[in-house]
Amino acid sequence: MYNLFRCAVIIAVFFVALCGGAGAQTAGGPAVAGRLTSVSGPGAPGDPLPSLKDAFRNDFLIGAALNMSQVEEKDPAVSALIARQFNTLTPENNMKAALIQPGWDRYNFEQADEIVRFAAKYNMKVNAHCLIWHSQLPSFMAGMQDADSVRHYFTDHITTVAGRYDGKVYSWDVVNEALNEDGTMRKSIFERTLGDDYIVEAFRLAQKAAPHTQLYYNDYNIEHDKKRAGVVALVKKIQAAGVRIDGVGIQGHWSAGHVPLQDIENSIIEFSALGVKVMFTELDLSVLPSPRGHNTADVGQHSDYADALNPYVNGLPDSAQNLLADSYAQLFQLFMKYKDKIGRVTFWGVDDGHSWLNGFPVRGRTNYPLLFDRQLKPKPAFYKVIGTAK
Ligand code: XIL
Repeated sequence: MYNLFRCAVIIAVFFVALCGGAGAQTAGGPAVAGRLTSVSGPGAPGDPLPSLKDAFRNDFLIGAALNMSQVEEKDPAVSALIARQFNTLTPENNMKAALIQPGWDRYNFEQADEIVRFAAKYNMKVNAHCLIWHSQLPSFMAGMQDADSVRHYFTDHITTVAGRYDGKVYSWDVVNEALNEDGTMRKSIFERTLGDDYIVEAFRLAQKAAPHTQLYYNDYNIEHDKKRAGVVALVKKIQAAGVRIDGVGIQGHWSAGHVPLQDIENSIIEFSALGVKVMFTELDLSVLPSPRGHNTADVGQHSDYADALNPYVNGLPDSAQNLLADSYAQLFQLFMKYKDKIGRVTFWGVDDGHSWLNGFPVRGRTNYPLLFDRQLKPKPAFYKVIGTAK
């Protein structure tokens, strides 16, 4: 009897493995058997994994921020997952100023070119990120006070980089994080030396260098009233100058259970009323406690480690897993309600193991903010998100 049972189990396992193998033949990428593409869906065992980009194909683009090890395809299972789930990518770091222009007269396009090649191979659009930002600037910019030097850098950087990738990337985050929480202008190196109009100037230069590329303003917390009003004024100012701006990116670094849905809805309505597309560009939902007084994605702010801030080192309890899933579901229900106004939803990373939130704003934590876990398996949140697609 026992032997009969054992035999049946072996046959069943063999059969499921076979079905999984067939399911692994994805349209977008190489077929990789195993942990990824054959993960069972909510249906029968062996169902192929549903695809986010397919589920939302008629609604908006679905993207992920990628690091170089993903772009260099170090792990075929990761490549297969990316190709199956996403139709657009944002380089997490490698098109930022410090990396693409390491010297005053020296550019390094190697990684950016690789990113563009990877995207073409898998038929993905590139949202290039980002031209003008106060952070991750080349070291030669540190302490620069002289307006002429800053203007030289600013003009040369935008013209060279945006020009080189025009027609190769779909869009640029032209200016990133230029506003304070109250909607006033951040006192960045660009504001201090070039004045408030530097943003209009950045879009003017980008428009000239990259006539075939969508041009966006991107920032965090801009769903909140005061900062949102600052963005509205900024977009109007750019438009009044006769300069093109095609979209506004709401970063979307939020916390599970605390997603500001009403503010987000107001922002979709107000930004789109300006005639620009709305994008959710860096979506992740932290499940960890915020350090006291910390409520921002300002990359300049770090807090000290404490065990109490890192409660889920050994795994995420069901209660937190469900809260994450419900928050994602509410968010995507809202996105679907306004799908005609939303151009793209991009997650800031592919899987929990490689999320920047393991290191920010506290170093050395174990966070779970994305739809795929550390083994690249879809989490309950993944299925909830898929479930919101019509
Ligand atoms: C982050 C990256 O994820 C990190 O790897 C890097 O160390 C710092 O920058 N807003 C942005 C992104 O616009 O560029 C930031 O990315 C996250 C916050």
